[in-house]
Amino acid sequence: MRKRNRTLLPVLAGVCILLSLTLAGCGSQAKDSGAAGSGLVVGFSQLGSESAWRLGNTVSMERAAEEHGISLVVDNGMQKQENQIAAIRSFIAYQVDVIVFAPIVEDGWTNVLQEAKEAEIPVIMMDRVINVKDSDLYTAYIGPDHYQEGVNAAKFLQKKAEDMDQETIRIVEMSGTEGSSPMISRYKGFHDLIDRDERFEVLETISGDFLRSKGKECMETFLRKYPDQIDVLYSHNDAMTLGAIEVMEEHGIEPGKDIVIISVDGEQAAIDLLKEGKINCVVECSPMLGDAVMDLAEKIVSGQEYPRITRPEESCFTEYDDLSGLQPRGY
Ligand code: AHR
Repeated sequence: MRKRNRTLLPVLAGVCILLSLTLAGCGSQAKDSGAAGSGLVVGFSQLGSESAWRLGNTVSMERAAEEHGISLVVDNGMQKQENQIAAIRSFIAYQVDVIVFAPIVEDGWTNVLQEAKEAEIPVIMMDRVINVKDSDLYTAYIGPDHYQEGVNAAKFLQKKAEDMDQETIRIVEMSGTEGSSPMISRYKGFHDLIDRDERFEVLETISGDFLRSKGKECMETFLRKYPDQIDVLYSHNDAMTLGAIEVMEEHGIEPGKDIVIISVDGEQAAIDLLKEGKINCVVECSPMLGDAVMDLAEKIVSGQEYPRITRPEESCFTEYDDLSGLQPRGY
């Protein structure tokens, strides 16, 4: 793979014009870092801005691009796959050096990725994964192991159950965006352990779309359908958890005590509530992927060896841990 032969400014101007024509209202932004560096042009299709995690991820990409002297063209897909596909097509038309995308859902990417392959533009998949028959349709993946996150949530609950001294522990689950890889894998990782453990019963799983507002709605529904029956809330992200906690408190329920809460992400607001005892476990999912993505883009373009899969180190923060030394999360 080699860097494309063209001057930076006309290309960026072209991308801006094209994106503003074809993706009006979708929030495309080109940033010329100005810093000396590889001089690559990277097109980044971000899936949306649904959570603090997502905002942290976008900032991490922008900062890292600046530090690496990479011009990053960011397009916000506003939670719509068709916007992401249109953005990727624009990146292909303008021959960016590398395309990075965070796919909102697993299915439906084959055609556009085939087009990128034919244009010989490397594609880095970030954060979420996709479902394609030909895995050569993308060059590399950087992101968390969402299945392991589900397993980590289940392992915490199995430990917590030993203190709960109950014959049956009833769980409600708030899942993420339907068809998205973190939703599918966090469900599977959790259920692979919990469903074969007789102490647990999952009352219901409802999708809250990774949104705080929908987290509130889901919790209202759970409390209406299962009054006084819920022992545990397993929520696929912090944004939904924060919404659910608001609702619990409105109903006079003590979060973290009356209902055990397990959340995923690790944003600062959730860690603060963990320290206050209102959340019992936060499974970490790191959005700080920008530096690794830019390193990888440079390696791919300059023909160096690169890993096909890169996973950030992740942890699990629980009420059993000493969290006094935990650094500010930055998102
Ligand atoms: O794909 C990662 C998930 O997407 C994060 O858990 C969530 O907060 C975000 O919306």
